[in-house]
Amino acid sequence: MTKMIAVLPGDGIGPEIMAEAIKVLDTLKISFGLAVQLEEALIGGAAIDATGVPLPADTLALAKRADAVLLAAVGGPKWEPLDISIRPEKGLLGIRAGLGLFANLRPAILYPELADASTLKPEVVENLDLLIVRELTGDIYFGHPRGIHILASGEKQGINTMVYSESEIERIAKVAFEAAELRQGRLCSIDKANVLETTELWREVVTRVGKAYPKVTLTHLYVDNAAMQLVRYPKQFDVMVTTNLFGDILSDLASMLTGSIGMLPSASLDAQNKGMYEPIHGSAPDIAGQQVANPLAMILSVAMMLRYSLQRADLADSVEFAVRQVLRDGLRTKDIQGKGPYTVVSTREMGDAVVGVLRSKL
Ligand code: IPM
Ligand code: MG
Repeated sequence: MTKMIAVLPGDGIGPEIMAEAIKVLDTLKISFGLAVQLEEALIGGAAIDATGVPLPADTLALAKRADAVLLAAVGGPKWEPLDISIRPEKGLLGIRAGLGLFANLRPAILYPELADASTLKPEVVENLDLLIVRELTGDIYFGHPRGIHILASGEKQGINTMVYSESEIERIAKVAFEAAELRQGRLCSIDKANVLETTELWREVVTRVGKAYPKVTLTHLYVDNAAMQLVRYPKQFDVMVTTNLFGDILSDLASMLTGSIGMLPSASLDAQNKGMYEPIHGSAPDIAGQQVANPLAMILSVAMMLRYSLQRADLADSVEFAVRQVLRDGLRTKDIQGKGPYTVVSTREMGDAVVGVLRSKL
């Protein structure tokens, strides 16, 4: 049966990198019998310009109907003067919440070919393969009360609320334990339980859920220590599970271990494993429209979608193989240039090269 994919290019480099992902999908359709139909919609700043809101009702409806959602990136300086409640980022948060995508999987894998692109010493990052499981629909991102108020004194006060209920912690903990079972069986839960009650509860619930997973070794770290450990000795980690805000920060940090944030895909899943797939990087407005952005995180997001939502692990393997092959062939976008004698290519050329490797496997 043909599966429907909602395609949301968004802003900045979004449309450029999405064009390469679509090229890959078209190749899989035409040459590998992948039965998908793509439907494009607006989100973020592009949606604000066209409709006045960052997540038009049509886009959310399409995403709900779809079997999977592929999203590039949203945001840019053009929309920064707008009120925070209608900025492009609200479109992203709205679609995450609207689809109930509470589990965000962010793998950080170092491709051996990119060891010299990392700012850390090769021996620290060699063979790095860790998975950050970030809770995505709770925490201070969505908590109330929130806003900027004027106090009786006339002074302004900003307020946000960090909040988690037991059921929210339980369901993300289960996802993380299950992921750890399929990997090396080590789960590290990240909190700030020495200061914040919300994460004291987090630690209690994760520990309780862990009783049902005797094969997984559970450890806990405070988030400040975890940040330090990630740059000191990242290979100590297998799976990390954490809150929305801490996961946002730690996953950017982890991405740099792998050489470039331009390499990392992510999957955001609901309770039924329906997913939205997006690179973890942003819309990079500073390089938009120049054909220099790295499309590999977007293309690897297609691979994750094939694996988790389309049950085509075979094609996911092929796409991941093709990405490794173009790196082995010495092709690099600017962000992953490293020190070697590499051929620096454009966004489009990188996409074409991946498609070329896929076709050569026919
Ligand atoms: C991410 C991004 C988003 C987030 C922004 C764009 C709202 O940084 O996906 O990590 O904070 O979740
Ligand atoms: Mg982020």
